[in-house]
Amino acid sequence: MMEWTDRHWRMFARTLTQKALLYTEMVTAQALIHGNLERLTAHSPAEYPLALQLGGSNPDELFAATNLVKHLGFDEINLNLGCPSDRVQAGCFGAALMADPNRVSECFQAMLNAAGTKGPKITAKIRLGIDEQIPEDTLPEFINVLNSSNIKHVIIHARKAILGGLSPKQNRDIPPLNYELVYLMKTQFPKMEIVLNGGLTSLGQCLEQLTRVDGVMVGRAAYQTPQLLLSVDREFFQSEPPNQTAYEALLAYRPYVESILAEGFPLKHLTRHLVGLYHQVPGARQYRRILSERAHLPDADWAVVEDALAAIPNVETV
Ligand SMILES: Cc1cc2nc3c(=O)[nH]c(=O)nc-3n(C[C@H](O)[C@H](O)[C@H](O)COP(=O)(O)O)c2cc1C
Repeated sequence: MMEWTDRHWRMFARTLTQKALLYTEMVTAQALIHGNLERLTAHSPAEYPLALQLGGSNPDELFAATNLVKHLGFDEINLNLGCPSDRVQAGCFGAALMADPNRVSECFQAMLNAAGTKGPKITAKIRLGIDEQIPEDTLPEFINVLNSSNIKHVIIHARKAILGGLSPKQNRDIPPLNYELVYLMKTQFPKMEIVLNGGLTSLGQCLEQLTRVDGVMVGRAAYQTPQLLLSVDREFFQSEPPNQTAYEALLAYRPYVESILAEGFPLKHLTRHLVGLYHQVPGARQYRRILSERAHLPDADWAVVEDALAAIPNVETV
């Protein structure tokens, strides 16, 4: 999620779940081609399984970008066809591409050609539709185009995007969710892997969805209430989580935090991802206050996290 997640977040997420597939925030094909490839794709194998998300609408650029990243270890390269921001619309990619299925097909052809048979899986993230489209009509057509373009794995954010008039934030809340239409797509395209996204806030809800679709993607709730991730491995993968409690997870994160501090980065780059950890737990307000008031100070180090943790009663067990 652009401006929220980064590789530090993903390293923290890995102390909570080892199995969930994580996604990078969107990186444009042009940035990869013309910018600092190493910085834009920097990650650790500890983040795997990991998908890189691309933004773009020019098949030649997407070919080149896929070529540049295909050997970097990502399990999946995902093309964003769901982002509604103005900047993205000006470049005519993200959700705007849902109006141009032919172009989408060319883009995926290019990415598949670049990835080759041994390269990472190529996938799509889409909305139900955009603007005036009637998703009941246009979504099956669009998914059919993906299917015929050999894209077999689609994440559907189960609401439309309104490109003129709503901000990106409003576009994540105002257009109503329609899970039924996503279920219908699974019925109509049974061989495709259909992943549902949008509005999921508990693992119970996620488990329920898995009776109708092949997977779920959780965005905001995973970031804002990361404790949720502590039960993912057990509930979804029948596997023990890397840590049993949020406290253990933080202790496991500490060596990473200290290594990044030693590289000269400020503590606030890391602690901003920890703010939601003790959501609705006694002492949480004080915990957040200590992190936000002290993490940006010069020389702030792990002691700030320890002081914040001290505000949570019985921190070792909650
Ligand atoms: C701050 C923010 C940044 C986001 N950036 C991206 C992005 O880079 N790529 C993407 O596919 N979706 C992005 N999204 C959308 C989420 O992936 C997700 O589709 C949306 O929030 C709905 O799911 P949720 O209700 O589980 O959050 C972003 C969402 C937020 C809140």
